[in-house]
Amino acid sequence: MTQHTTVVHDASEIVVGPGTDAPLERYEDAALAVTDGRVAAVGPTEDITEEYPPENATTAIDASGQTVIPGFVDSHTHGLFAGDRSDEFAAKLGGEQYQDILAEGGGILRTVRAVREASDEQLRSNLLGHLDTMLAHGTTTVEVKSGYGLDTETELRMLDVIRQADEEHPVDIVPTFMGAHAVPEEMDADAYTDRVIDDQLPAVEEQGIAEFCDVFCEEDVFSVEQSRRVFDAGMEHGLTPKVHAEEFVRLGGAQLAAEVGAASADHLLHANDDDRTALAEAGVTSVLLPGTAFSLGADYADARAFLDDGGSVAVATDFNPNCHSQSMGFAVALACLGMEMTPAEALVAGTHGGAGALDRTGEIGTLREGMPADMAIIDAPSYIHLPYNFGVNIVETVCKNGAVVT
Ligand code: NIG
Ligand code: FE
Repeated sequence: MTQHTTVVHDASEIVVGPGTDAPLERYEDAALAVTDGRVAAVGPTEDITEEYPPENATTAIDASGQTVIPGFVDSHTHGLFAGDRSDEFAAKLGGEQYQDILAEGGGILRTVRAVREASDEQLRSNLLGHLDTMLAHGTTTVEVKSGYGLDTETELRMLDVIRQADEEHPVDIVPTFMGAHAVPEEMDADAYTDRVIDDQLPAVEEQGIAEFCDVFCEEDVFSVEQSRRVFDAGMEHGLTPKVHAEEFVRLGGAQLAAEVGAASADHLLHANDDDRTALAEAGVTSVLLPGTAFSLGADYADARAFLDDGGSVAVATDFNPNCHSQSMGFAVALACLGMEMTPAEALVAGTHGGAGALDRTGEIGTLREGMPADMAIIDAPSYIHLPYNFGVNIVETVCKNGAVVT
């Protein structure tokens, strides 16, 4: 008898991942068996339960009337922060602009002050709380950026808290160093770029706790030239670039992402056809963040053009004090309702696409045989209910490596 730990059976539907000749590979009336934390078999309940009888499993989950999807891979968040910026949200609703608030020392700079003042324990507790919410909404892997320290000590402190939380919490965290998130009040952009390169990056490499290096390449923040210098140095220190590109204006971050071989270019609200072509040709994943546009009242990225150009697309939450939602289900709903993605495209972008943005294609983001059994079970008869039932968390059970964690 085959040893196994978990069998999910009689699911209304199991979504495996992107299909080869259909948008999704999925099975109706389906089951999935897990051995050693990985998917051992997935298919029709009749076939799977013959080889893997639920009565012999350590955990058997009767998923009648429910749908199993791969756990979400949220590939862009600033999920570690302190303080409260809800008053800025209200001010923006009243017509204030994000960049004006930042220029006046609010926005990111206000969160920087709060993070510098917070204890490690406060930061850890804040992040763990957000991870609980993400997990409850079906996220099993999340990228978290530093970038609210803007000095070596606090950037390292943030990355260390991210490492601790990763060890303590079932959600896997992918750490990104983002010392170049804003220009601190105490110096100008050129001087600060030197600090990031000369002080922060060597210290981050020594501490060995970041995988990616991200820059806010934006008018009045970091220029293309400053961003390029940070990426060149980051790569020398073993970090793969990611770029906040073309969010408020088209500055050239997407072309830079293609040039340096970034894992992803993110936001892209103002990207044009040339940018899309460059990203697709360079194999850079375009991370679209509909929650940010929704929250700012801005025009969405042109998701249809990205998809129709054949590029790899991810959808993520961008959870941060300016876009205060941890829910990938809501991001998927916005991708459909705001960016004209189909439910299948949006679900793939929030799982397999997210894996691409984190250089983990083929490692997470699908429920193919051999993959980690990271899955969300939603209380609905088809995956379409995710965007259809917008604004409500219909995730009922989450498994990480086959173990029930919610
Ligand atoms: O991705 N645009 C820059 N960074 C974040 C916002 C961070 C903040 O406002 O605290 C983003 O949206
Ligand atoms: Fe961001």
